[in-house]
Amino acid sequence: MQHVNLGMIGGGTVGSGVFHAWQKNGGLMAARLGVKINFRKIAVKAFDEPRPYPIARNLMTTDWQEVVNDPEIHVVIELVGGCGIARTMVLASLAQGKTVVTANKALISAHGPELFAAAAKSGANLYFEASVCGGIPIIKSLREGFVANQFPAIYGIVNGTCNYILSRMKAEGADFAAVLADAQKLGYAETPPDLDIDGHDAQHKIGILASLAHGFWADHHAIHTEGIRDVSKIDMQFAEKLGYTIKLLGIAKRISGRKPGVQVSVYPTLIPNTHVLAGVNGVFNACFVRGDIVGDTLFYGRGAGKDATASAVLSDVADAALDLKNGVKVRVAPFVPCNKGGRITSMAEIVSRYYLRLSVVDKPGTLAKIAAIFAAAKIGISSVIQPEGHEGESVPLILMIHDAPNAAMQRALAKIARLPVVKNPPVMFRVENFE
Ligand code: HSE
Repeated sequence: MQHVNLGMIGGGTVGSGVFHAWQKNGGLMAARLGVKINFRKIAVKAFDEPRPYPIARNLMTTDWQEVVNDPEIHVVIELVGGCGIARTMVLASLAQGKTVVTANKALISAHGPELFAAAAKSGANLYFEASVCGGIPIIKSLREGFVANQFPAIYGIVNGTCNYILSRMKAEGADFAAVLADAQKLGYAETPPDLDIDGHDAQHKIGILASLAHGFWADHHAIHTEGIRDVSKIDMQFAEKLGYTIKLLGIAKRISGRKPGVQVSVYPTLIPNTHVLAGVNGVFNACFVRGDIVGDTLFYGRGAGKDATASAVLSDVADAALDLKNGVKVRVAPFVPCNKGGRITSMAEIVSRYYLRLSVVDKPGTLAKIAAIFAAAKIGISSVIQPEGHEGESVPLILMIHDAPNAAMQRALAKIARLPVVKNPPVMFRVENFE
């Protein structure tokens, strides 16, 4: 049986998870693939760094260059993360003609085209299944399972930390700050939590999915990104009353019309309680993929963690091993830029529905002033809730707004915010009906 030798850079939580999964199921993989996969070297920060599973001491080195420069290593797994030294490691490995497997979403999102060019130049391949939605095989599905499809829409709950926080806020009627503090205590949220709760991690992931789906690289600077800091308990409760759940949704949606493009965005979104994504709770991730041929499909699973991520890393290793076994260097190209004129549609141009919460003075004419601003902007109100209050006092006023371009909505909101009867900055979330 042919042998493929692995080198891994990173021996912490995910790295030890990969090693453990290989120890457990490496024999099964060999039987299934007809290739024996061996670990040859693992570069770690320190031999005794804390790790959930042990790594064989004789495989460890603290010098990553030993992995990259070892001529017996065919495939390098990069699990360092970030865009600094990890980029150097990946480029150095590709330059040596080694196939690279990475879980690094930030790196792929920011430097994908550079890395793909380096891979093409060396004739090596670059695999990144673990970079999006952990153990869910979403990249393989888009690239291979759905190769015959165009993708009118992809909706993803792609950040487990945010989904955990929002799920608990909804279930317990709890405040964002309290749930975040608890999530940090339990290890479900990092300290500081910004990368997750400000939407950056989700931005990397939806950008990668959008790029694969639409054939042009989605520049992460152009991805409209909002996190979940402004989601409050009161909005969760009003959303529930209206039949909705608030989720941090990554959206990659084809926009047709005079200026075709793709909406690529991340923001807290009201989704109908009856939609399947509304039932995705806790740390779980899910991707709802609409293909023009296949129709609607749903992927659900763990988006993070040592074991789920190891499953994705080893699936890439299996592909790399098969490529080597069959003498094929690039069976599935990491990215195919097949849409030269592709562009991200700016958020201002995107048409959506809205949930709006205002804090207003309960007195005659308040609603009329707000309605007049919307009427002048040709924006329709679809429903209004105002809990009974006391005249002259502040009350919440909730409006559901029909489809309107974001630019028009923002202009109307700026005018509404200036009305003397409006007491606090308006709170606005977009609504997605998956039509
Ligand atoms: N921090 C991410 C999440 C997992 O909470 O989903 C790694 O991408």
